[in-house]
Amino acid sequence: MALSESSPWRALSAHAENLRDRHLRELFAADGERFARFSLRHNGLLVDFSKQRVEEKTLALLHRCAAAADLDGWKARMRAGEAINHTEGRAVRHADLRAGDRAPSEVRDVLARMRRFCTSIHDGSWRGYSGERITDVVNIGIGGSDLGPRMAVHALAAFQQPDIAVHFVANLDSADLAPLLARLNPRSTLFIVASKTFTTQETMANAHTARRWLLAAAGDEAAVARHFVAASTNLEATRAFGVAPENVFEFWDWVGGRFSLWSAIGLPIALAVGFGHFEQLLAGARDMDEHFHEATAKANLPLTLALLALWNTNFLDAHSHGVFPYSQSLALLPAHLQQLEMESNGKRANREGIAVGYATNPILWGTAGTNGQHSFFQLLHQGGALVASDFIALASPDFPLPGHHSGLLANCLAQSSALAFGQTADEARAAGIPEQLLPFRTFPGNQPSTTIVLPELTPFTLGQLIALYEHKVFCLGVLWNLNSFDQWGVELGKHLAGRLAPCLRGETGTEGLDASTRGLIAHLRDARG
Ligand code: F6P
Repeated sequence: MALSESSPWRALSAHAENLRDRHLRELFAADGERFARFSLRHNGLLVDFSKQRVEEKTLALLHRCAAAADLDGWKARMRAGEAINHTEGRAVRHADLRAGDRAPSEVRDVLARMRRFCTSIHDGSWRGYSGERITDVVNIGIGGSDLGPRMAVHALAAFQQPDIAVHFVANLDSADLAPLLARLNPRSTLFIVASKTFTTQETMANAHTARRWLLAAAGDEAAVARHFVAASTNLEATRAFGVAPENVFEFWDWVGGRFSLWSAIGLPIALAVGFGHFEQLLAGARDMDEHFHEATAKANLPLTLALLALWNTNFLDAHSHGVFPYSQSLALLPAHLQQLEMESNGKRANREGIAVGYATNPILWGTAGTNGQHSFFQLLHQGGALVASDFIALASPDFPLPGHHSGLLANCLAQSSALAFGQTADEARAAGIPEQLLPFRTFPGNQPSTTIVLPELTPFTLGQLIALYEHKVFCLGVLWNLNSFDQWGVELGKHLAGRLAPCLRGETGTEGLDASTRGLIAHLRDARG
């Protein structure tokens, strides 16, 4: 039976009819205990979802949905290593990467090698081809082999190691790699080629260009082994590229790309902030894993975020989800979550291959506050579209400067409050707004949001936060009856690009292509001379 036919889903639809027109003002007026009732705490984290348009009954029905979808069964199957990524025949075991003493021996072995490697870079015992120590590390990867580590390195800038700079290159556009190479010294630069498959077009093109750049300076193939390491599951391809086997940090097909920052793909994080801090990141994620598996459904943070997303998407029709970290250090979190959520659950075929009859993942987007307030927040306040949001705040700043943090927090709270409660015409009048401006100075409010507060931004709390969203994604996949761990949707474009590149170079004709693509190719060939 389709989930949308199940009795909890039908009950939720009926309940939504009653609740849809109720304003958050009314819900707050009716219940003075709303914050206490609709907020959860776990090990330093606070999740306040009192500004979501829910009542106790909503949550009870949503929890029934999770039970009807056999969430506990799917959690057990994931933990037991069953191939729940059934379209690729793979297990989903990224939590094993951060299991500490309980991690599989192959995981602990790679972590031990990563630790030794980091030490050798940090203490200067690793030398480049000319005997210089490494000052710059360039991670070449894309998607999951870029976004997570890039976000974490940026987030943990307060923990940055001295004397080493970590850079990220992802785009096939040479405008990404070229300006970076122009300011680096080949004698003191180390490249990490980060690719699960070691076949991704963008990564391999950038890696080969970097290799040529190095060899142009070193003049000896032997230099590659001193300046290239790899994080990959494809040991044959790394060898063919010339990376010395001892410099390949392995991971496994049971680690999905967007869940891979805990594996060898996290090497740039460890190099940037030190291996001890990388271990703290893993420990934070482990703490969230334990919470996810052990906390009751009602106290469960990831499950609660997933249920709220289900409610907003499928019952209130909010198809856009904003993520607003009031932390410049977390500015890249929305980009990481875009891949995590949209590549995982942006799907319409259910696990049986049948089109689901309901909406799945909303469009996720966002930027750091307060910057967003001066660009798109206008639309959230008065544009009319229903947008659900996550506000993320740090109780204490990671870069304290007098006079900044209280103002930042005040803006965060002010925005979620203004979005929730708006401003009526009477309130505007009472504030002295002239009658003719009232249509422009009223705010409908009733925009749902959740506020997540971290005590401070450390490797541990960052690990908790990322794993919180990872488990939310897992729960939503179960609720929507999707395989969250494949990504067939990105294949068609890759295949077409492979076909069009020779057309653009004039090596093959354009017969059989659509008229628009043919026209664009003709124009581009002409424009490029
Ligand atoms: O964009 C598709 C994808 O397969 C992502 O899932 C993955 O993170 C990315 O490409 C990079 O893949 P790889 O690590 O194999 O280079």
